Formats: sequence, structure tokens, C-alpha cells
Amino acid sequence: MTQRVDTQCVHAGQIEDPQGGVNTPLSLSSAYSYESAENVLYPRYYNTPNHQVVAAKLAILEAAESGLALASGLAAISNVLLAHLKAGDEVLITQGCYGGTQSLMHAELPRMGATLKECAMDIDAIAQAITPSTKIIYLETPSNPLLEVIDLAAVAQLARKHQILTVVDNTFATPVNQQPIALGIDIVVHSGTKYLAGHSDLSAGLVACSEPLMVPIRQTAVRYGACLNGLDLWLLERSMKTLAIRVERQSQNALALAQALQDHPAIEAVFYPGLETHPQHTIAQQQMHAYGGMLSLRLASHINPDHFEQNLRLIRRAVSLGGVETLCCRPLYTSHAKVSATERARLGIDEQLIRLSVGIESSEDLLTDIEQAL
Ligand SMILES: Cc1ncc(COP(=O)(O)O)c(C=O)c1O
Repeated sequence: MTQRVDTQCVHAGQIEDPQGGVNTPLSLSSAYSYESAENVLYPRYYNTPNHQVVAAKLAILEAAESGLALASGLAAISNVLLAHLKAGDEVLITQGCYGGTQSLMHAELPRMGATLKECAMDIDAIAQAITPSTKIIYLETPSNPLLEVIDLAAVAQLARKHQILTVVDNTFATPVNQQPIALGIDIVVHSGTKYLAGHSDLSAGLVACSEPLMVPIRQTAVRYGACLNGLDLWLLERSMKTLAIRVERQSQNALALAQALQDHPAIEAVFYPGLETHPQHTIAQQQMHAYGGMLSLRLASHINPDHFEQNLRLIRRAVSLGGVETLCCRPLYTSHAKVSATERARLGIDEQLIRLSVGIESSEDLLTDIEQAL
């Protein structure tokens, strides 16, 4: 029986507790007795019971054959790159990826003899940027922090034609709203610290893809060692059980705020793919179930962004996203602080830009808070 995403979130991957408990037992052991040397369980082999459950749950949610859980989103991303690149390869990254990802690629790819090329988040720009050395096309959709959207099926088709691997960071959308692998993308990565964990209380990273693509990633991850402990894995599984219901509510709240704020005199622009006025709304409608909990606002020039942030009573100023509580940050000083000033200016990441990670509170209370702060 094919299950729907809400059911998969609760049940997929779970293993039976021999004591009859309804939850996966927590296994904190770092040493396991073994029958044969090929079958040793060990935290850094990413195969302890709580790891297996999280990996299987993510794989099912992402319509993938295989899953892997690591210590952070950047551990997931770096291991994918290390496993699938060699000297002479080029990575094509679209604009609007997380600043830390850009910083990782800028600093580390040259050290392994690979190169990085950036291009606009546009299928024609990607097609033009491809060279015989392009090995990976890396992207995020919706993008960070301006929530631009790109047609994933079109990117996958173009990449297949040139035998290029596609890697999509699905942190913002989550598998509840978007399944890149079902649209032809090869590898999905997540900062599990965000929506998958959902309560701003642990750090994790995840990868989902086919088993042949996963084999080298797992081998690299075993060598470099960025494993999670049993407790964080257990907490991650528990959180993923409520992923669908949280993301559904976060998406409804973000849409309600975007619609209410788009004509506000103190707001110059609202960036949200669920708005009919969003330039890629039609693509978002086609490839997303709902539009997610991330929303950005450009405050009008007469609003002091520091005062706005300080005036918020309910919404907390904090880095990170995807938790049950609504958070706000200024990408200029947080997610994109490491991106060059020229690049930030070109992307429109300025003083007035506020990014909201909308939580599961009442949207009326959130709107009241924003209105009083404005
Ligand atoms: C979209 C996205 N991808 C990846 C990362 C990196 O994840 P982590 O901080 O868990 O390493 C982040 C962190 O903010 C992110 O927002």
C-alpha cells in the first residue's frame, strides 16, 4: 500500500522495540558485538540502529533508494562533493545558495584541484555555463534569501543530456513540499538542523540518492567521520514524525503573512513563491505542494531595520530556521555575511532585507507583532 507523506513521516523506517514500546528504542552504544567482521555496527559507519531508522525514513520521504545522516548540513554537502569530485572537475552553483555552502566551495574546491562557476538561477544561464568539465550542478530552490524558484525537471533533463550530476539542497522546501528526486534530480541534501529536526535543538545533515551514488558518499563519510550520536538520531526521528503537520502549518502561516504584508505601506517587497505576483509562481505551483515557511521582506526605506527587529515582541531575532518558533534575521549579517559585498549588492541583499522563518504559532499573532514593530 503506497502511503501518503503524513503517514510516512510517522511510520517509515521505524524498527520494532522488542519490549513492545511504540517508539524506536534509543541505542547509545558505540560498541556492538558481531557475528561476522563484515557486519560490524559502529557510529562512524553510519549503521547503528537509530541511524538506520533516520536514513530509511528520509529515503522514503525523498523517494530515494538510500539515505545517510551526518553531523551537520555542511557535513552532508562536503561529503557529497568530496565523494563525487576529482581534480579538474567543475561545479556549477546557482545564485541564492546558502552563504556557508558558497564559502565551502570557494575555499575547498581549489584545494582539491576542482573549480567553481556561479550562474544565475535560470535554465538558459545554466545551459550556457556548462563546459566539458562540469561534473555537478548544485542548487537550492526556493533560494536563500530571495525565494527564487527554478524548474527542477528542466534542470534534471538538461544535466542528464550532458551526463552531469545534479545536487539539490531541499532544506527550505522539505520533502513534504517538494521531492527533487521524483523530478529527476540525482542527489538531495539537507541541513537537518532546520525543518527535519524542527525544534532548534540539534545539528544534523542528510543525504538521499540512489544506492550507486550513495556508495562513494558513505565511503567518504566513513573516512572523514562526521557522525551523529544515538540521542540526536533518536530526537531527529521523533521530530521527523511531525514534519508533515509542522510544514503544512508553517506554509499556511507564511502564505497568510505574505498576502497580508504585500500591500503594507512600510513594506517595499515581499518575496514568497506562493504569491501570484512571484515571478516563478507557476513553476512553484507545478513542483511544490505548498510554498514553505520561509519568507523575506524588504522594508521601506523610511523603516529603520534595527528598530524593526528590536520592536518585535513575539518573533525572535536568531540565526537558523525551520523550528516551531518564528525567527527573523538579516541575511546581510547572517546567512550571507561571508558572501562578497559585490555579490550581495548584485543579489539585492541589503540592510532593509529581513528573512523570516515562520513557525507554527497563530498567524494572527505573528501579523500583529510585525504590524506593531513596523
Ligand atoms: C539551506 C541551507 N543549507 C545548508 C545549511 C548548512 O547546514 P548546517 O548549519 O546544519 O551545517 C544551512 C544552514 O543554515 C542552510 O540554511
